[in-house]
Amino acid sequence: MLIHGKSFVLRPWKRGDEASLAENANNPKIAGNLTETFPHPYLMKDAREFVMSSNPKNLGSENFAIVVEGRAVGSIGIKKLSDPHNGTFEIGYWLGESYWGRGIVSQAVKLVTAYAFRRYKPVRLQAGVSSWNLASARVLKKAGFKREAVLKRYILSRGKRGDEWIFVKFPNGK
Ligand SMILES: CC(C)(COP(=O)(O)OP(=O)(O)OC[C@H]1O[C@@H](n2cnc3c(N)ncnc32)[C@H](O)[C@@H]1OP(=O)(O)O)[C@@H](O)C(=O)NCCC(=O)NCCS
Repeated sequence: MLIHGKSFVLRPWKRGDEASLAENANNPKIAGNLTETFPHPYLMKDAREFVMSSNPKNLGSENFAIVVEGRAVGSIGIKKLSDPHNGTFEIGYWLGESYWGRGIVSQAVKLVTAYAFRRYKPVRLQAGVSSWNLASARVLKKAGFKREAVLKRYILSRGKRGDEWIFVKFPNGK
């Protein structure tokens, strides 16, 4: 699956992406906004493992490399939640810091959201955001997500405690 943005392409991760992945992912400002399953420091072995496991066979989980000027410099993915949350999908993303502020992820979230609704017909598509992550909240709002819930003191991310905001988008746009 290939999705074209204005200044980037979204495509499945593949062998050869590892060096650029490790270089861009190895950043505490990225790791500090993701769950602790995202390694820090991010080493070549982590990049190899991610590339090998990023295209699982089970339908409903897909990770796209965000490719800018031919290099895989970020990731955006959707994941199907399991029972009893059938019908709910989650969206997650990060981008190498050198590429921030160019509107890339705002556009990527819109494109992947449209793709996810077309392809998987989820009942709801959601994202969990740390309350300090205003850039990510802005990206979701611009893609039509609404803040549905605040889970107080729900996050302990690398020693930092905070609220989690749940953003959601429904297929009818409401
Ligand atoms: C969050 C992230 C994905 C944004 O990617 P990006 O391509 O730089 O985002 P965009 O340029 O498309 O848009 C960012 C928006 O947030 C705004 N923004 C940036 N920093 C902000 C801040 N501190 N406060 C409020 N708004 C902010 C920008 O102005 C822009 O909004 P605008 O278009 O209305 O001006 C990127 O910063 C990142 O990878 N962060 C670390 C990982 C992460 O947080 N992932 C998401 C976990 S939920």
